[in-house]
Amino acid sequence: MTTSSAPGKVYLFGEHAVVYGEPAVPCAVGRRASVTVEERDDDRLRVEAEDLSLDGFAITYGDDLEEADVNVPADLVEAATGYVDGAVAQARDAADAPDAGFNVSIESAIPLGAGLGSSAAVAVAGIDAATRELGVELDREELADRAYQVEYEVQEGQASRADTFCSTMGGAVRVEGDDCRRIDDAPELPFVVGYDGGAGNTGELVATVRDLRETYGFAADTVEAIGDVVRTGEHALREGDVEEVGRLMNFNHGLLSALGVSSRSLDTMVWAARDAGADGAKLTGAGGGGCIVALDETEGVETALNYTPGCEETFRAELDTEGVRVE
Ligand code: MEV
Repeated sequence: MTTSSAPGKVYLFGEHAVVYGEPAVPCAVGRRASVTVEERDDDRLRVEAEDLSLDGFAITYGDDLEEADVNVPADLVEAATGYVDGAVAQARDAADAPDAGFNVSIESAIPLGAGLGSSAAVAVAGIDAATRELGVELDREELADRAYQVEYEVQEGQASRADTFCSTMGGAVRVEGDDCRRIDDAPELPFVVGYDGGAGNTGELVATVRDLRETYGFAADTVEAIGDVVRTGEHALREGDVEEVGRLMNFNHGLLSALGVSSRSLDTMVWAARDAGADGAKLTGAGGGGCIVALDETEGVETALNYTPGCEETFRAELDTEGVRVE
């Protein structure tokens, strides 16, 4: 039996635009998904997943999703199981063991589909645990690449390397197309996360932006403008100018909103955080519902979000510098 875990992430800048080759800066945070894998003596797959939200609930499915004991939306369960199936396929391929069967058990402190990189963390930890269980140790570059292939397939060919690279390597990272690197001179940032208890479907939201971009020149310009915000923001980050980073996060949220991937509850939390004195606040991840990330040294934003209608949970998130690890 082998257990690996990998961190979730928040996007300081650049989600969605990164799918079209613009740069993005996600940061790994200290909430992890753990995947335990045990090789079976047949070629079947059984998956159990627990605590896939901050509230905690369980989904269990065997070979047939119909048998699932599920109280989460079916499309999210399908997406989650797609990532697990993809991770297992990658591990079988990497270990040249096409008939390997597994019992897989997932425990996650990262809410599903909420913009904190749950799927990337499950894909990274799942491939790491399953290959190790088969006696193969992948280097981190290959692991990140294989996890990206999983996201690419589940998101029907429209995915960036940002989530999977960040979850594998940890820390603040910069991703632009295939060029992925860590930003080692980033200052510690006072992240506060607000969670509305909901979720967005990444594949659908990515498709929404794709359609807008193909229909309107100004939507394509908006995607490019996000790239400009990221480049300016990355400079501010390296300079340690947290106020400027915050201002640019606000700008980035406005552009994501224009692309239709925010929601009433995300906007409400963003404004509550700003009103409470945040240096900046924006949605994180694919949007549609889920989480916002704000910067605030003080208790002000956390307190304000706790009293904001529609905000179900608030927490501080520390930067995770470790990335994937064996438990
Ligand atoms: C989702 O966490 C981030 C997106 O940019 C999609 C991707 O990068 O693959 C929306």
